Amino acid sequence: METEIATTDNEVNTNEAVRSAVGLLQSGDVVALPTETVYGLAADALDPDAVEKVFAAKGRPHFDPLIVHLPHKDNVYEVAEVPKEIHKTVVQLIETFWPGPLTLVLPRKPVIPDIVTGGLATVAVRQSHHPVFHRILRNFGGPVAAPSANLFGQLSPTSAQAVMDQMEGRIPLIVDGGACARGLESTIVRVLPGEKKPVIEVLRPGPITEIELKKFGKVVFAERNEDVENSVPEAPGMLANHYAPQKPLRLLECPEDFVPEDGKTYALLSYRGQPKDGFIDLHDWAEVVVLSPGSGRVAEAGIRLFHMIRQLDQLDVDEIISEPFPDRGVGKAILDKLRKASVK
Ligand code: TXA
Ligand code: MG
Repeated sequence: METEIATTDNEVNTNEAVRSAVGLLQSGDVVALPTETVYGLAADALDPDAVEKVFAAKGRPHFDPLIVHLPHKDNVYEVAEVPKEIHKTVVQLIETFWPGPLTLVLPRKPVIPDIVTGGLATVAVRQSHHPVFHRILRNFGGPVAAPSANLFGQLSPTSAQAVMDQMEGRIPLIVDGGACARGLESTIVRVLPGEKKPVIEVLRPGPITEIELKKFGKVVFAERNEDVENSVPEAPGMLANHYAPQKPLRLLECPEDFVPEDGKTYALLSYRGQPKDGFIDLHDWAEVVVLSPGSGRVAEAGIRLFHMIRQLDQLDVDEIISEPFPDRGVGKAILDKLRKASVK
């Protein structure tokens, strides 16, 4: 199969791209689409055969459920139950963060096929903020299931070219909506009734942070990350690499942890490129990439994370070494990805 890229650089091209994407969704096919987080691989969420093509293209195991993306906020009631005990909080979260990078896990309605949820009693839902994605969904008129458009376990794509590198020959079309504005997958939460206030449990850290969520309830981070695709498996070696570049990547805790081997070359993924952090001058690096130069902003580092790892992965070096990142805000999501990508 030949994989085409449809551009959206002007109105005429965008109209054509939207038409082609909607046509593919209507005929039960898959299409890679830009979202504000990462590129997604979309199919009609109500058509099990179409969803099966998503699993096939990604090489993703069926136990790992997909996120359902909605054209309108109100569609949440068609695909999910919003239990009375958490209704107020769920509505507040939707009104505050949708469209945007927040995914809610809710009890599912029977209309959602088993293949989407991996047989779970819940469904993960969100509404994307990307204008092209939004238009395609509105024109299609129904929910689409869309995981990140990468091969299972590999780096999430934040550009059309990154999708092409992994999906060429496996899908018919990639809609190029430019670089993803957030660059990291959505924050996934579930809401539980609490004693004094509702509990917002973060299942996967992402662009919507603790500070933003805590206005609506007590925020807790799930101990066992339920982000199955990218989590450390319970059975060691079962799913060896996640968010993984082709080259080994190692997340360091402190400069002293770096012991170079003779004859090996190393590239450094640096948070803010400050000598005082102790990494820049530690070694004669073959390449240094700084994610947020200056005093450092974790949200900015998050936007560029996957894109820059991808670039480092294409260099002729033996290993990618990553500085540690602050364990706060979007830094939590960055650390989550780097830990999972890191060689064990
Ligand atoms: O930003 C995003 O969320 C991107 C864009 C494309 O929307 N999508 C994305 O999908 O990251 P994916 O499939 O790569 O990751 C979704 C994660 C999966 O690891 C899955 O385990 C979890 O969401 N998930 C899906 N349904 C769930 C459910 N019912 N309960 C708990 N976790 C669920
Ligand atoms: Mg993914």
